[in-house]
Amino acid sequence: MKLSKTFTSMLPALAASTAVLLSSPAFAETYGFSQIGSESGWRTSETNSIKAEAEARGIDLKFSDAQQRQENQIKAVRSFIAQGVDGILLAPVVETGWDQVLREAQRAEIPVVLIDRGVDADPSLYLTKVASDFTEEGALAASWLAAETNGVCDIVELQGTVGSSAAIDRKTGFDSVISNFPNMNIIRSQSGDFTRAGGKEVMESFLKAEGGGDNICALFAHNDDMALGAIQAIKEAQLQPAEDILVLSIDAVPDIFRAMADGEANATIELNPHLGGPAFDAIAAHEQGEEVDKWIKANGPLYLPDTAEEEYQARR
Ligand code: AHR
Repeated sequence: MKLSKTFTSMLPALAASTAVLLSSPAFAETYGFSQIGSESGWRTSETNSIKAEAEARGIDLKFSDAQQRQENQIKAVRSFIAQGVDGILLAPVVETGWDQVLREAQRAEIPVVLIDRGVDADPSLYLTKVASDFTEEGALAASWLAAETNGVCDIVELQGTVGSSAAIDRKTGFDSVISNFPNMNIIRSQSGDFTRAGGKEVMESFLKAEGGGDNICALFAHNDDMALGAIQAIKEAQLQPAEDILVLSIDAVPDIFRAMADGEANATIELNPHLGGPAFDAIAAHEQGEEVDKWIKANGPLYLPDTAEEEYQARR
């Protein structure tokens, strides 16, 4: 067959545009991800892990950082709905106040997966929750402390963000175990907002209020970052963290393993940050018409100083 002159002259341009088309990313799906912020080392790992997982799967992930504000998260979810995304990942900063916006997503037939934290809304309003059991984490922390102190300990507690399921449930789990030990008491408890600076500041006030802190047996911090800030405060008060005051926290970030290896912290419970894979799998299963469990659990073990150096080297 003979090609016309005009068509032949168009061939280089056609080849070029085909190459552009082939090299542009062809996204399988578009999801929105409303993240709480970047208050802790764990949160940053979680964000990075979810973004990497989306990229590996060819998902176009629209990311929104709420900077700890629920109203920013509600705005982000509404904007994802308006853009007609295929699914929404929501890490809710607090537990209450989500019914309305979840109903809007449901009306638009967009599945919502709760990531890491829970809400008090009706479970029919979201597809699933991919999260650890915070109550179990609190109970595990208290059981370790009870064994370590033979059930005799005056404890100071650094709580996470007020109103968050992570803070509420970790406290519930911890309290339920120590209530079985008449000589284990929480003598001070306040929020440090899951930040290192908050942990340091509140620990300083605990030490001051407790006449320097000699009578404090242990610190239970709802996350490692607050524990790391508190360790600084304990050292500045001329006490030895992990010896004069036991230090126990949750997350298992590299810096707490460094502190444990250096003899400044006693235990941490792992919170898995790799929640993107199970969340994307759940949406894919839902799209195939499969039933999805309402809670996909991701609990981790308790780590002690004996493996801290090894864990630090592996995770940093
Ligand atoms: O919701 C999980 C908690 O939030 C983590 O323990 C803490 O580090 C984070 O900021």
